[in-house]
Amino acid sequence: MNLSELIKNRHSVRSFDPKKVDDSLVEKILESARLSPSAKNTQPWKFFIAQSTDAKDKVMKAMAKRNQWAKDAGVIFVILADMNHAYKKENKNYLIDIGLCLENMLLTAEDIGLGACACTGFENDILDKELELPQNLKSVVVVPVGYKKEEPEKHEKNSLQDIVWKKS
Ligand SMILES: Cc1cc2nc3c(=O)[nH]c(=O)nc-3n(C[C@H](O)[C@H](O)[C@H](O)COP(=O)(O)O)c2cc1C
Repeated sequence: MNLSELIKNRHSVRSFDPKKVDDSLVEKILESARLSPSAKNTQPWKFFIAQSTDAKDKVMKAMAKRNQWAKDAGVIFVILADMNHAYKKENKNYLIDIGLCLENMLLTAEDIGLGACACTGFENDILDKELELPQNLKSVVVVPVGYKKEEPEKHEKNSLQDIVWKKS
């Protein structure tokens, strides 16, 4: 699939066949994250990768009730901000960096036949504690990834006309 088709076809997946995701696929997603752009190439990210039931349970303890579907994902990534590497001049940059990393992961998941969804509906403090993170690492977004159980809902997007701002 070329890039524009991938972008068109990617939709958030919240219903998984609880099948193991092979390590080689987990690595492909991680590699796409590793290559992401970042302000001043600071690469202010680390990843917790939950594949075992025990590790997934830790993540699920922090997840909001509405995100309990994530338990069936074959693998759950947690993108962590590494504040020791965050670009200090502009506070917002590290979150933009992580957003770029997230999109690479979502598109790669789609490209290799998997489904994924970004999730910020979780308790950061609980998750940071469950994962026993050191002070410099903070959980930002959880990304459950797995085999799609059903085709996801296709959300309406605003038109090109709607998204261009012009001073009236
Ligand atoms: C930063 C961010 C946080 C999100 N958090 C959640 C979440 O906690 N739970 C959830 O089910 N979906 C979450 N989503 C997925 C959005 O609801 C979804 O991207 C949006 O409805 C558009 O649908 P699409 O991804 O299929 O295009 C999140 C998406 C983003 C970008």
